[in-house]
Amino acid sequence: MKGKRLILMGPPGGGKGTQAQRLQETFGLVQLSTGDMLRAAVAAGTPVGKQAKALMENGQLVSDDVVVGIIDERLDADDVKNGFILDGFPRTVVQAERLDALLHRKGMGLDAVIELQVPDALIVERITGRYTCANCGKGYHDSFSKPLVEGVCDNCGCTDFKRRADDNADTVGHRLTAYHEQTAPLMPYYDGQGLLHVIDGTLPIDVVTTELKRILGA
Ligand code: AP5
Repeated sequence: MKGKRLILMGPPGGGKGTQAQRLQETFGLVQLSTGDMLRAAVAAGTPVGKQAKALMENGQLVSDDVVVGIIDERLDADDVKNGFILDGFPRTVVQAERLDALLHRKGMGLDAVIELQVPDALIVERITGRYTCANCGKGYHDSFSKPLVEGVCDNCGCTDFKRRADDNADTVGHRLTAYHEQTAPLMPYYDGQGLLHVIDGTLPIDVVTTELKRILGA
């Protein structure tokens, strides 16, 4: 498992972040979430963050140039040498083509692209029930993934939690439209490269993790 490089694809709320965190904790693969990086830029008020804020709050995609630039720089860091999980990137065919080019330039290849399939009907409940620890970022859900002790993070003991600005029913509709129109065409793109694996993302979280490990030979 060490050194694997993979992409987790799937709709908003499909479970990409949940599974990426588990693979990071268990195997030391680094989770590279463009959504998390952009939210950090928004919080810090950087030029990229100022450009991204309104688009993200409206459920629209940030420009290809911005996100490709962020990933290009991030893949030069030392920690990705032990393997990484791209979570939320690429999201357009242009991003996928540019990722191929920059991985080639860096002498890296992909081991797998995994699509978590979840129907739209389940997504709103997943997203509106989601929250994370304000200190360590561990993810929870009001119904599907509660802390062991209510109101206390399992990971760090913090009692402060937060919800994302774009996790509301209106914005979810725009995010799903962006997914179907701009990201779904990536499945045939990666299938054509022999990299695509599909997992039923409606299965319980632990079962999805087991299936992921099976695909990755862990
Ligand atoms: P991003 O942060 O990437 O959000 P997203 O793709 O919409 O995905 P989410 O983080 O909402 O969902 P997830 O699949 O990680 O689900 P999770 O594991 O949390 O992007 C946000 C915005 O940033 C975009 O809209 C765009 O504006 C911008 N952006 C980011 N990347 C970009 C790019 N490359 N190009 C352009 N713009 C970009 O799970 C959800 C909930 O369900 C959790 O509460 C979890 O506990 C629960 N859950 C998970 N799995 C299961 C299960 N199997 N059963 C039951 N519950 C489950």
